Amino acid sequence: MSRILIKNIRSLLGVYEQAPERLCGSDMNVLPAINDAWLALEDGVIVDYGTMAEWPGISDWRDLEVIEADGRMVLPAWCDSHTHIVYAGSRVGEFVDRIHGLTYEEIAARGGGILNSAALLKDTPEEVLVESALKRLHDIQALGTGAVEIKSGYGLSLESELKMLRVIDRLKGLSPLTIKATFLGGHAIPKEYKTNPEGYVEHLINVMIPEVAAQGIAEYIDVFCEENYFSVAQTERILEAGVKHGLRPKTHVNQFNAIGGVAASVKYNALSVDHLEVLTDEDITALRGTSTMPVALPGCSLFIKIPYTPARKIIDAGLPLALATDYNPGSAPSGNMNLVNSLACIYMNMTPHEVINASTLNGAYAMGLHATHGSITIGKKASIIITEPISEPGEMMYSFGRNTIERVILASAAR
Ligand code: NIG
Ligand code: FE
Repeated sequence: MSRILIKNIRSLLGVYEQAPERLCGSDMNVLPAINDAWLALEDGVIVDYGTMAEWPGISDWRDLEVIEADGRMVLPAWCDSHTHIVYAGSRVGEFVDRIHGLTYEEIAARGGGILNSAALLKDTPEEVLVESALKRLHDIQALGTGAVEIKSGYGLSLESELKMLRVIDRLKGLSPLTIKATFLGGHAIPKEYKTNPEGYVEHLINVMIPEVAAQGIAEYIDVFCEENYFSVAQTERILEAGVKHGLRPKTHVNQFNAIGGVAASVKYNALSVDHLEVLTDEDITALRGTSTMPVALPGCSLFIKIPYTPARKIIDAGLPLALATDYNPGSAPSGNMNLVNSLACIYMNMTPHEVINASTLNGAYAMGLHATHGSITIGKKASIIITEPISEPGEMMYSFGRNTIERVILASAAR
């Protein structure tokens, strides 16, 4: 049995006796907190908390670690609901090409981009992929992430997509982070199908999706719905096949163009619609009254210099919003949720409270983990951050580019 008591916490943030599944609109600006608090963890689970004034004291010291927080804040660990953390090599060459003036889309049109990563991944052994991804997970854990979604999508063939999903499955047993797997076979048209994209869509629907579902190694299905990738009609067919096989959609939509991917995703009851850098009034209307979580990826906007997702338009319409890193080798080679949070304040005009809710409770919802993650609630997993001594939560985002986290406590390896 392992027991941890954290006492003299300046503010215990995101505390709910009963946590809501997600927060929408103006509720996102409310962050319930207990000042001058204590928190007790037992066997990786939150078991109790309260104010120091009403602290019952320690009656049983057996296997107890006491942490003196002394001015530090405690909050739920970040829930990063959108990453592509399993990849081979790097795309630093494309980064330099962009410095010289090429755009992300021009590089992709030349056969670079996602296809570049697919070529690198094809020849990389599973073992090497596990090792490099594990290193990335280790890094993001130190940056405060406690739960993460990981997509396939650099395979683009049955064999390589299954290899990626097997790697993700193995990571679940090797890392203390809670991990969710998403099948993203519909990430790009592979070069063998360049002249026959419909052939690839058929292959996805008839061969790849059924096999992935049969192996039970993915929970969600994703498609990159975008000009030159997958049309709305193709996206719908892929999502329909996924849903038929028990995979709930989480989609890439509206990164460069608003072509109707939001409505198509909502039609198939998507858990989340991600990117949304370009967002129309029709997209907002399509999202109203649904259980779909919009997800913004400001690290991608920063890195490839595209617009930031209009968070105010989304939140002020009464909708929820989650934040994630999109950690991937092409458009966002960083898994730093602290930087994402700062960018959301600076460029998306989100308040620190909205940002914390977007990166904890709403992030947990966007990967189906709201029952166990995203808030300080008795019975939820011990997945928490202890900050440096800070005076208010906004200091975490204010100190952009550096990490104000002193310690991260995660319930050990859970599948
Ligand atoms: O979310 N937009 C599509 N997929 C990734 C980028 C993938 C890549 O460039 O390797 C994204 O930005
Ligand atoms: Fe992505």
